[in-house]
Amino acid sequence: MQNSMPQKVRIVEVGPRDGLQNEKPAIDTATKLALIEQLAQTGLTYIEAGSFVNPKWVPQMAGSDEVFKQLPKKTGVTYAALTPNLKGFERALAAGAGEVAVFAAASETFSQKNINCSIAESLQRFAPVLAAAREQQLPVRGYVSCVVGCPYEGAISAQKVAELAEQLQQMGCYEISLGDTIGVGTPASVTTMLEAVGRRLPPAALAVHMHDTYGQALANIFASLQLGIAVVDSAVAGLGGCPYARGASGNVASEDLVYMLDGLGIEHGVDLQKLVRAGNFISAALGRENGSKAARAIGGKTGSC
Ligand code: HMG
Ligand code: MG
Repeated sequence: MQNSMPQKVRIVEVGPRDGLQNEKPAIDTATKLALIEQLAQTGLTYIEAGSFVNPKWVPQMAGSDEVFKQLPKKTGVTYAALTPNLKGFERALAAGAGEVAVFAAASETFSQKNINCSIAESLQRFAPVLAAAREQQLPVRGYVSCVVGCPYEGAISAQKVAELAEQLQQMGCYEISLGDTIGVGTPASVTTMLEAVGRRLPPAALAVHMHDTYGQALANIFASLQLGIAVVDSAVAGLGGCPYARGASGNVASEDLVYMLDGLGIEHGVDLQKLVRAGNFISAALGRENGSKAARAIGGKTGSC
């Protein structure tokens, strides 16, 4: 059987943003920084460290300005931020973000609930962000949410996802992260969606962002790897969810992803033991169980939990 899997995967760690944005307990800046510092020591090269959105909408990200200003200076690590509009981009720039991301949705209702505008309006808001970023030579990543299902509209057309992904790329996003925001996809629906997107964009321009609500995230990532996707988003300890997608659980846990990549012989550059320690640290700070099965198994074996 021909193996079209990538030899190397780049992990985009979204725990400090996608993870923490949906956690209930208040999280102070020092705790966020301690988590990011630990993550930066694991070998991860890309950490989404916060977002510059309206703090009234997402209170957990209110301190992102402070977080970015105090981030550990570590060469080889990109600290990125979500920026929904020019105001967000200006805050990100002032705080010293190394890269930004704009985020659209393939569902009209989700777009309204999440960013208070239609899909078409969201693209209009992103245009000045992309122009300003180009001027500052800051790379821009693009997200498409609800790529297989929406909490309000149900199943989403793969064609719609493909069109939106292509539009974001044409506007200047160097990579499009395809998000199963509510984790309803299976390898079948994810494959159908990726094949539709793949008719317009090469795998090298794509990433996947799988939430694990129905326990399908690793299977969906495996299906994506088989189609040549080599960038995968994940959150340490399986943190988080989306505040505008009720019932959505966290992203695939970074520890579980690393364990699977190790088993597949795919390079990733991340130290699993250090990652487990970072996940145990933030889980303890939040007073919750570590959501990574690999972390729990490793903790159990070494007694380090
Ligand atoms: P809006 O109300 O349409 O914005 O919100 P507006 O331009 O009309 O301004 C209204 C007020 O918001 C004004 O303040 C602005 O200054 C303020 P006021 O005059 O009333 O005091 N404002 C801002 N403040 C701070 N930073 C900003 C900003 N922009 C406006 N950047 C907006 C539009 C997008 C800002 C709002 O809807 C919002 O913040 N939404 C939160 C979106 C969010 O963070 N969602 C979660 C992340 S997305 C996600 O998790 C999915 C993903 O993980 C992928 C996946 O899983 O699929 C990425
Ligand atoms: Mg997400």
